[in-house]
Amino acid sequence: MARSHTFSLGALAGALLLAAGLAGTPAYAEGDANRGAVLANTCLGCHGIEGYRNAFPTYRVPKLGGQHAESLYLALVEYAERRRSHATMYAQAATFTDQDKRDMAAFFAEAAELETGTPRSGPRVERGREKAAVCAACHGANGVSVNPEWPTLAGQHESYLFHALRQYRSGERQNAIMAGQVLALSDEDMRDLAAFYAAQPGLVTTTSRRIARR
Ligand code: HEC
Ligand code: HEC
Repeated sequence: MARSHTFSLGALAGALLLAAGLAGTPAYAEGDANRGAVLANTCLGCHGIEGYRNAFPTYRVPKLGGQHAESLYLALVEYAERRRSHATMYAQAATFTDQDKRDMAAFFAEAAELETGTPRSGPRVERGREKAAVCAACHGANGVSVNPEWPTLAGQHESYLFHALRQYRSGERQNAIMAGQVLALSDEDMRDLAAFYAAQPGLVTTTSRRIARR
């Protein structure tokens, strides 16, 4: 893949987004995590079970614990607007008000400190690390994204990351920035990148114990 070329595009897009942010986009209004915890009960049937899988195609249901609130909120908006294609998540997101989405986002974001620990390694992870240099401008060197609108990838399930990358390439998931990022990636690149990010200490599964403890 044309690495230096992709990098300059990525960096440029990042710089443009940062500039847009500075130019007075209203600050993100934080939700109420306590209210979110009550609403989020129904979500834990899938997101609260370690390693739970989406039936078809099979991949693990994404971890939400410790994710940026803003990026969780944006994800829910995208499902509701069908810019991401997933029937169940559409049904979930479409029934909630804007405030509900912010509140649940606040709950999942605060729900856990990022997992600490030693990153896993291996040949695929190492190849992924090299390839991830072009992604670092936005997703950080180890997958902890530098802007709250951009999802943290560190510790996310490998199969979900791979699935998400393929969906950007096929257009099933619509995002102008990521569409440009995946153009030059082969399936093999995507597998390496997913393995690298999944191996970094980061996101966690929010189980119902966390609600019980509140
Ligand atoms: C039936 C299982 C199920 C339930 C219930 C469910 N989800 Fe999901 N959720 C999924 C799956 C599967 C995905 C990944 C979908 C995709 O491929 O886009 C997902 C994706 C998400 C994402 C995107 C995460 C990311 O990293 O981009 C968010 C945010 C989310 N769900 C929040 C919620 C909330 C909040 C609720 C409760 C109101 C909920 N989900 C209920 C299965 C579920
Ligand atoms: C210019 C900034 C930028 C660059 C560079 C970038 N991304 Fe992203 N990435 C984003 C944004 C913004 C989103 C959220 C898009 C959405 O809502 O679907 C995202 C989402 C993702 C997701 C989905 C995560 C989830 O939780 O659903 C994956 C996986 C991902 N990026 C991987 C990569 C990889 C791999 C690279 C490098 C090849 C890369 N990104 C480069 C900005 C960027």
